[in-house]
Amino acid sequence: MKKVITYGTFDLLHYGHIHLLKRAKSLGDYLIVALSTNEFNNLKGKQCFFEYKERKKLLEAIRYVDLVIPEENWEQKVNDIKEYKIDIFTMGNDWMGKFDYLQEYCEVIYLPRTPEISSTMIKKKLNGLKSD
Ligand code: CTP
Repeated sequence: MKKVITYGTFDLLHYGHIHLLKRAKSLGDYLIVALSTNEFNNLKGKQCFFEYKERKKLLEAIRYVDLVIPEENWEQKVNDIKEYKIDIFTMGNDWMGKFDYLQEYCEVIYLPRTPEISSTMIKKKLNGLKSD
């Protein structure tokens, strides 16, 4: 069984996320998503609309996702890859080159990002909408 892992925040789940997860799953048989915790987001200065628990439930409801684990720091990736016997690490290509050091432990694949959508964009657009 080929195991795949990907990392992210997945706030305000959108079609760019779904497209990424669908392709990630198709790289193997079992997909693990390491989801950034509220604490890790604070550390990164990233403000989420949904709490970890809510983001986790949304991801768990997606047919491509087999397991959601917490992402608590930048350094855990090597451990995760070893612990879960990961064959493929994948991320959107906004991270191109950033995780090449993991090639020592598994295959590293960057997938093309879906254009014109992001959690940040949704937040900005909603902020601009009038409430009436
Ligand atoms: N992703 C993607 N296409 C998009 C948005 C995200 O393929 N349009 C991918 C990212 O490359 C990453 C994963 O989805 O591998 C999770 O990304 P995340 O940063 O949580 O989503 P964004 O919408 O980019 O969030 P933000 O605007 O907060 O950076």
